Amino acid sequence: MRETAPFDQPPAFGFRDGDTPVENRPMKARRAVIFDLDGVLTDTAELHYLSWQDVATDLRVPYDRAVNEGLRGLSREESLRIVLGDRWGEFDPARRADIMRVKNDRYLARVAAMTPADAFDGIPALLDALRNAGAALAVASSSRNARAVLERIGLAAAFDAVVDGNDAPRSKPDPQVFTAAAAQLAVPAPRCVVVEDAAAGVQAARAAGMRVVGVGPAERVGGADLVVPTPASLRADVLLALLPVV
Ligand code: G6P
Ligand code: MG
Repeated sequence: MRETAPFDQPPAFGFRDGDTPVENRPMKARRAVIFDLDGVLTDTAELHYLSWQDVATDLRVPYDRAVNEGLRGLSREESLRIVLGDRWGEFDPARRADIMRVKNDRYLARVAAMTPADAFDGIPALLDALRNAGAALAVASSSRNARAVLERIGLAAAFDAVVDGNDAPRSKPDPQVFTAAAAQLAVPAPRCVVVEDAAAGVQAARAAGMRVVGVGPAERVGGADLVVPTPASLRADVLLALLPVV
């Protein structure tokens, strides 16, 4: 069931203005930081890897971390296409759905063991600092499990909007998920900075007309405006300095 992201405090911007539908609210001159989830807020990229590896082992399909790198930011269906590779045609749609269900069950079993200690170091403090600086905060993820993960790591209440693979079915590199997050925040794209660990996500953020910070090696996220090695290296003032002064 779709949940509405709870708010830990009333947003400082006055954008929850009564019952006005989001799409009819004026774009206000505010700033937003839009976070990818998997691999940026927590290490679920590793849990996706382990779960695809379980499936690949069962199917006797070759699979390793190098293949997994290419799955970052892609939808479950697109990931399966890459995991099966040349053997895609051997599996009919019902069997493919079955494989995705098994992968997701394995993944959710791993997610169930997560706790707030699994948020990456520095992330809760970064979110606090951004909020204190007046930024609106969103999560934009291709995952259909994003809300469950945010609950487990204790960050469900830290964001003003959460847009996931259920809300935005066109997965990254399509910009849909970022554009939808900005619309929910009522912040125009040039006033949004995205934080991403995936090449597909950097591409999506650029296509949305947003600034983007890449987390990870330049070979993966070198197309970003700024690259930092780890989530712990993210700084609120550095992120906001990428945006025009309000
Ligand atoms: C994120 C991850 C991908 C994952 C996708 C779908 O974008 O980076 O690795 O394949 O979400 O996740 P889901 O939880 O819906 O299977
Ligand atoms: Mg990611």
